[in-house]
Amino acid sequence: MEGWLITNGFLSTQKFQELYEMFRESAKKYSLDLKLIKNDEILVDIAIEECTMKPDFVLFWDKDIKLAAYLEKLGIRVFNPARSIELCDDKSLTHLELMNHGINMPRTIFAPMTYTNIGYTNLTFLELVKSRLEFPIVIKEVFGSFGQQVYMANDEEELVNIVRECGSSKLIFQEFVKSSKGRDIRLQVVGNRVVASMYRYNDTDDFRANLSSGGKMKGYTPTKEQENLAIKTCKILGLDFAGVDILFGEDDEPIVCEVNSNAHFKNITDASRVNVSDKIIEYIIEELSVG
Ligand SMILES: Nc1ncnc2c1ncn2[C@@H]1O[C@H](COP(=O)(O)OP(=O)(O)O)[C@@H](O)[C@H]1O
Ligand SMILES: [Mg+2]
Repeated sequence: MEGWLITNGFLSTQKFQELYEMFRESAKKYSLDLKLIKNDEILVDIAIEECTMKPDFVLFWDKDIKLAAYLEKLGIRVFNPARSIELCDDKSLTHLELMNHGINMPRTIFAPMTYTNIGYTNLTFLELVKSRLEFPIVIKEVFGSFGQQVYMANDEEELVNIVRECGSSKLIFQEFVKSSKGRDIRLQVVGNRVVASMYRYNDTDDFRANLSSGGKMKGYTPTKEQENLAIKTCKILGLDFAGVDILFGEDDEPIVCEVNSNAHFKNITDASRVNVSDKIIEYIIEELSVG
């Protein structure tokens, strides 16, 4: 069986190389021919409607959603589906898609849409935000990862400053789940199962549990309720696999924080001693053999 591992040609940090290497090793274990192809090596070309060297599948480890959708149009099974990657890439789309399904989430308000060359020239909408959410308020750029585009405003002045500094970025405002300050869990779902978990906690004053924001990790055994929430969330979003971040509510009830379609699984592999890349490759083989 032949597959393509599609990655981003402009991202070549150690962190990403490490993941690609893990996939390559897993593929070898299962005698799968996995070719590494970068998104700048194939390009979407609408004149090409048939793929002559069509692989059996694509493992899409990037957020080039249009390329993923194009490959689907060529009749290739893409893991994860393009639409699922799109829903996870933009945090506002994730929350919108999860609405009306009984999924516990922090109250989330979207900034009104503005244009890149204009920005938020009028901040009166912040009055509405303030009337609905108590300080501190969590602010997130909808595109972001590693906690880098996640902020907290303790008062009105900070709120205005953060929004100004974000320029014309798309934003969401979120209820701060105090009971989860500096801690969360990451559950790695593959197919219909949680295959690995870790607990993340931050000893510093930072409210973000990401390891890149100073968080630490340890192995964790999730409750059935946490597992079910993560699995249901992935199902709604149409994901084959994902890393789901879950917060602790006041009574420890699980709350979905965000979903990562291309979760970095090196840390969770270390914390849980479960080889996540093996699990993903096993799942793909199983899916393709079933049909
Ligand atoms: N509403 C919230 N209440 C409390 N903590 C939060 C909230 N949203 C995010 N966090 C913390 O910030 C971290 C980063 O937020 P997240 O939405 O997962 O963004 P990223 O994609 O950057 O990881 C989370 O892991 C969690 O620890
Ligand atoms: Mg996260």
